[in-house]
Order: sequence, then C-alpha cells, then structure tokens
Amino acid sequence: MKTKVLMVCLGNICRSPLAEGILKSKVDPERVYIDSAGTGNYHIGSPPDPRSIEVAAKYNIDIKNQRCRQFTPEDYDIYDYIYTMDRENNSNVLAQARNDKDVQKVSLILEGIRAGISEVPDPYYGGESGFEDVFQLLEEACTLIAQKLQDF
Ligand code: 4NP
Repeated sequence: MKTKVLMVCLGNICRSPLAEGILKSKVDPERVYIDSAGTGNYHIGSPPDPRSIEVAAKYNIDIKNQRCRQFTPEDYDIYDYIYTMDRENNSNVLAQARNDKDVQKVSLILEGIRAGISEVPDPYYGGESGFEDVFQLLEEACTLIAQKLQDF
C-alpha cells in the first residue's frame, strides 16, 4: 500500500501546492501518494497562485493543474503524514483531530530542519522573492521527507 502524505497551508494556493509538487518530484509515485489542502475555503477549485506556478516552473516542476480544496477531518482517515506550513495551520488541523492517532500524524514541515525557523512564511501579500524563499525552504524540507519515506 502507498504511503500517503498531505501538505496543508491556509489558502492551498501558495505554499502547500509547492510542497506537493516538490515532494512529488522526489519520490516514486508507485510508492507515495501526495496531495495538498487548505484550512481556509477562500480559493476552493482555483489553480495555484501564478507566482507559485512560476517559481515551480523555474525548477522544472509543473503544478498548474492542481486545484484548491479544503482540509476535512476525513483526511485523517486517508493520510499517514500531514505536514503543516505554520503554527496557525497546525492548530487548525489539530483542532479537527478525533483521537491521538490523528494527532500523531501532524507536524510542522520545517520542524527540526534549520535552527531558528519553524514556519514557512506566508508569501501571499509579498513579492516574488517571498516565493523563491518559500521554494528553497520547501526544497530542503522535502529532501528530508523523501529520504525518510525511502527508508520504509
Ligand atoms: P497559502 O497563502 O496559505 O500559502 O496558500 C495564502 C493564500 C491566500 C490567502 C492567504 C494565504 N488569502 O487570504 O486569500
């Protein structure tokens, strides 16, 4: 059975679509299924933000066909690992956990990666450089996640 990984941010148009695309580029799709979702409902059905599509394309990752959806508690029945981008997403996802098994699935994607930074900054209201920074943080995090998934 495939390992299933869910990436979660607020809008599901900037950070988590990048995390989904980057991790997909590093694992065997026969072994790992990856999706993303948002805690908010503002952009349901929309493609990723053009700035996320653009920075991903710069690194040969195509995320333009992704569509935004909202996180639901049923995601806990499907996914083995749920990675959140910041503390607010983390709290919102944990607030929907139904038991301790659900709680154990959730972690901040940058936890333990670099000293002094544990959240992927929300780039929505910033400029292009914010998206490059987000890409680099997620690239580093997804490299470690892919290694971990390979060890199973
Ligand atoms: P994301 O960024 O959580 O990385 O997708 C955001 C996108 C949209 C909004 C907030 C954050 N928004 O308020 O519409």
